[in-house]
Formats: sequence, structure tokens, C-alpha cells
Amino acid sequence: MDQKINTVDHPLIQHKLTLMRRTDQSTAGFRQLLREISTLLAYEVTRDLPIKLVDIETPMQKMNAPMLSGKKLCFISILRAGNGLLDGMLDLMPSARVGHVGLYRDPKSLQAIEYYFKVPNDIGERLAIVVDPMLATANSVIAGIDRLKSAGAKRIKFVCLLAAPEGIEALYSAHPDVESYTASVDERLNEHGYILPGLGDAGDRIYGTR
Ligand code: PRP
Ligand code: URA
Repeated sequence: MDQKINTVDHPLIQHKLTLMRRTDQSTAGFRQLLREISTLLAYEVTRDLPIKLVDIETPMQKMNAPMLSGKKLCFISILRAGNGLLDGMLDLMPSARVGHVGLYRDPKSLQAIEYYFKVPNDIGERLAIVVDPMLATANSVIAGIDRLKSAGAKRIKFVCLLAAPEGIEALYSAHPDVESYTASVDERLNEHGYILPGLGDAGDRIYGTR
């Protein structure tokens, strides 16, 4: 890997992200924009999926045509905000498997507390794409990836919407083998571990809980 995170700065993603950040964006609008961006991010993170050639017949003639090879990949959603990225990715890859890691950040210690874990038994044979909109201190994603590796995962990628420089460094130190993707690298974390300029609490904005 030649960089610590890949920034996907397509104009459509940047435009939609700006709309999401705005305080006056509605819950429905926020959710829809996240879904649209996640499809665009999915396109990038799957760019190097392996291909095999298969024999098919078109109405005109036989041909050797490319198709995806290997076991279907697995998205791993870090609950609960990770679910905001899932549907848009599943639109593109409807047969993908889905695992869930339930984690919340303790507001004082900023440590990740696990409350749920369920992934396919054969996760070690699949590419695992971990999704969570926010990479702040990275405590959550590091804990999630630790747990996935204990369950046997060997090939892991991570996709987020916003990343703080502090989180990028921490994730890379803990898991340098995990290739990461984001729509934006923001400026920094504040004293409460929130990303600046950021978009606030992603889970609350997706589900309208605040
Ligand atoms: C948010 C976000 C990440 C985490 C990022 O989740 O979705 O999982 O914070 O912060 P970190 O990089 O410092 O760990 P939160 O704990 O608010 O839980 P939620 O998704 O249930 O709202
Ligand atoms: N989690 C969020 O939802 N937002 C942040 O800015 C940081 C962590």
C-alpha cells in the first residue's frame, strides 16, 4: 500500500458530502445522500476484485467474457451508523454477505464497547469490507478489525465517509495491512473526539435520534 488512506474525491461525492454536512439537512435527505455516496465508494473499493473468463453465447456468437471470481465478498457494518452505508453498497452487489459488529464509543474514555458480533463462519475465505461513516480516534474500527481477525478474516478493507488525521495514523499503526477509503480527510478532532469540521454524530443524523 503506498498511502495510508485513499481519498475518493469524485465531484459527485464532494457535492453530496457538502449537502450532508449542512446543519439544515433533513434526516431523510442525510440518509439518502449517504446511500448515494456509499454506492460511489463501493465502486472504488471493489476496483481490484478478481476476474475470470467464462464461456457464454451472445445472440450473435460464442465468446469468452469476464465475470467476478472467488467467493462473494462480505460487508461488515459497524453498528449502528455503518448501516447507513450498507444499502447503497448492496444495490451494487446484491449477493454480498453481511456481518455486523455492534460497538459504541464510551463518551468519556472514547474506548469502543462491543455489544454484538455476527459474521459468516467462512469469513476467512472472503474479502471483508468494513463500513462505518466516521473514522475519528479509530478506536471503534481498530476494535472491530481486531475482532474480525480473531474470527479468521485475512483480507480486510475499510470504507468511511470522513476521516480525521489522528484516526488515519492510529488505524494504520494498528492494522497496516488494511487498505482504507474515505470521501474526505477533515482537519482534526475536538476535545470530545468529534471530527472538525465534520458533520456531527453520524448515527444521530442517520436515525434522527437527537
Ligand atoms: C460513531 C461512528 C464510529 C465511531 C467513530 O459511532 O459511527 O463507529 O463513532 O469514532 P472513533 O473512531 O473515535 O471510535 P458511535 O459510537 O457514536 O455509535 P453509533 O454508531 O451507535 O451512533
Ligand atoms: N462519531 C461521530 O459520529 N462523529 C464524529 O465526529 C466522531 C465520532
